[in-house]
Amino acid sequence: FIPPSSGSGSGGVTAKDALGNDILVSDFLASHKTGERSLAQGLKGDPTYIVVEGEQALASYGINAVCTHLGCVVPWNSGENKFICPCHGSQYDNTGKVVRGPAPLSLALVHATVQEDKVSFTPWTETDFRTGDDPWWS
Ligand code: FES
Repeated sequence: FIPPSSGSGSGGVTAKDALGNDILVSDFLASHKTGERSLAQGLKGDPTYIVVEGEQALASYGINAVCTHLGCVVPWNSGENKFICPCHGSQYDNTGKVVRGPAPLSLALVHATVQEDKVSFTPWTETDFRTGDDPWWS
């Protein structure tokens, strides 16, 4: 039995847009500015932010957009430089670290790597660089 996979063979998936097409990094960088966070389909189909970290550069992590309170998808608010949940007002900083409840935990992380102009998301099992703690999601 070989499970269906769209990923890189290491438990990962290729980031897809809202239509289910693979996101091409060259197109993505041409249409997104430094500091932007943009939703893609990630591991297990979870909405996951790709972070534009600099000129022609994506961050090496993606941020799972599912609120740790009750699971709403948390939008990025560029004016506030935060993720702000519309459901009950939880706030997360620009890396997804929780800064205001009722959410109890920071947004989950994944690794993001670029291979052949596509973004590959793989599970993040190491220390959470924002808190220094073990990842609660793995
Ligand atoms: Fe996000 Fe409640 S689901 S604050």
